[in-house]
Amino acid sequence: MAGLLERHIAVITGSGSGIGRAIALGYAREGAHVAVADIDAKAAAETVEAITAAGGKAQSFTLDVTDRDKCREIAGEIRRQIGQVTILVNNAGINRRNAFTADPQAVTKDWQDIMAVNLNGVFNVTHALLEQLRASRGRIVNIASIQSFMHVRTPNSLAYTTSKHGVLGFTRALAAELGKDGVRVNAIGPGLIETPLNARARANHPELVKIFLDHTPLGRTGKPEDIVGPAIFLACDLSGYVTGSIIMADGGYRVI
Ligand SMILES: NC(=O)c1ccc[n+]([C@@H]2O[C@H](COP(=O)([O-])OP(=O)(O)OC[C@H]3O[C@@H](n4cnc5c(N)ncnc54)[C@H](O)[C@@H]3O)[C@@H](O)[C@H]2O)c1
Repeated sequence: MAGLLERHIAVITGSGSGIGRAIALGYAREGAHVAVADIDAKAAAETVEAITAAGGKAQSFTLDVTDRDKCREIAGEIRRQIGQVTILVNNAGINRRNAFTADPQAVTKDWQDIMAVNLNGVFNVTHALLEQLRASRGRIVNIASIQSFMHVRTPNSLAYTTSKHGVLGFTRALAAELGKDGVRVNAIGPGLIETPLNARARANHPELVKIFLDHTPLGRTGKPEDIVGPAIFLACDLSGYVTGSIIMADGGYRVI
């Protein structure tokens, strides 16, 4: 049976680890040719290895999403080496957990770094791929968060919450603008997903996990694979009339 993403070419940022890697594997399983883009070249290569070992198609690209010129360069390289991009997943993201009242230098650095990756990075990559996505009537999937709506009561940074509110705003504004070109723009809001991003926080703050679970009707933390289904749905033709939306994959966090 043909996969849901046959003949698609998907760029997934931050796909050397965690949620991005799981989405890359899932897209390749559905037939997409995946451009695995990550600042960590070794991690990107490992994702490609896992995809090709499973019989899928992928190539790795070393990309720092904060580097606007490099984003343009890589967009051109992907076009030449694989073909016209039809799907972009803006997944690369970082978090730090200093309170706003902590050491001013640390807080300022957190703000600059988090905005550079989580928000400016989304702009940089999307803008670099804009012409390809318009030409292919493509699909954009942005990885947002429950923190696109609220600040969770765990050690967390103001910058992260602000950046994820921004990702949702970007999603809605871009969906409004690109609808006429047939480009769909949506987001996914994961809850607490067990990845390297939060491994230290989970280990050092068991109360963090408890706060989440007390708030989660499904009563468990998420795995990267929990994000794959929504990501495939938003990238394939099954979601042909869906744009400007966010799918929450958070175990129901926001309902209690
Ligand atoms: N894990 C969660 O609980 C959770 C919840 C909500 C949202 N998210 C979001 O999901 C996305 C993926 O997070 P994850 O948990 O899989 O994290 P992760 O740390 O496992 O993976 C993030 C990947 O992004 C890459 N990356 C970091 N900075 C980069 C840059 N400047 N340019 C290119 N790549 C870069 C890293 O090398 C890494 O491979 C992030 O946007 C994160 O904010 C995660």
